[in-house]
Amino acid sequence: MMGSEKTPLAINDPPYNLKVGNANTKSLSKIDLKSYLEFSRQWVSNAIAIMAPDAHFYVWIGADYKDQFQPLPDFMILMRDFPQLRPRNLITMRNQRGYGTQKNWMWVRQELLYYTKGDPGFSVVYTDIPKVVKGYYKKVNGELTENIERSRSDTIRPGNVWFDIQQVFYRMEENVSGCCAQKPMKAIERIISTSSREGELVVDFFSHSGTTLIAGERLGRRVYTFDIDPIFAEITIRRLENYRITGKTGWQWYSPFPEIAETTD
Ligand SMILES: C[S@@+](CC[C@H](N)C(=O)[O-])C[C@H]1O[C@@H](n2cnc3c(N)ncnc32)[C@H](O)[C@@H]1O
Repeated sequence: MMGSEKTPLAINDPPYNLKVGNANTKSLSKIDLKSYLEFSRQWVSNAIAIMAPDAHFYVWIGADYKDQFQPLPDFMILMRDFPQLRPRNLITMRNQRGYGTQKNWMWVRQELLYYTKGDPGFSVVYTDIPKVVKGYYKKVNGELTENIERSRSDTIRPGNVWFDIQQVFYRMEENVSGCCAQKPMKAIERIISTSSREGELVVDFFSHSGTTLIAGERLGRRVYTFDIDPIFAEITIRRLENYRITGKTGWQWYSPFPEIAETTD
């Protein structure tokens, strides 16, 4: 699919090796850890093979506290076998809804690992979070200033904890029914904006609802993506077609397959 092209940005959102929702698709269900790591080794090798000498590599991954927090730590250790990729960050995105509030702290986090190959450029982007909290004071030309006066933007730069992104739910336009592992558009757009330039290629091996494809379309990038499950591949194609026709990023609670959707009438 890549021909001789190489990508400066690979965004990867593989199955987390957790039971997702009611796990009605076998490509999102749980396998033994050894097989999961073998699968991870294979796709990471494939990703490295199609990356440009200077490139960014992102992986969304989860941790199952009911099963020794696998696969996050195992995956991180596996990554040490790929010296071409330099670890750069461990980002946590905060979800609004979580699970396990009665006898445990609510699990509201999604982890995003960030690595680079070579020395790619990075453009700072800002969040939508206003700089309302007064920061430390510093003397500039003999005057005591605080951070809001000194800064170039009214909003804060994203650190490695992202708490300004709304989790996708059925009332949002970008929602794609049936895609329970869908990532927020804003998160993928943040990755693309910081780690690639207009016209550049972005590759995503695990399309699902096609978020990377739509984000790339909106930001003027080219995207190559695929999914092992033909239903998700079809949804991805339809989501782009729908976006190009209507300007809408998803179908909210409507079915992407109206021709087979149940009618009440
Ligand atoms: C966590 S979801 C990705 C979510 C996506 N980022 C989004 O926003 O919609 C993982 C996807 O990987 C697909 N998948 C699983 N194994 C795969 C493989 N070997 N090759 C390609 N896709 C695979 C699954 O079918 C699933 O759609």
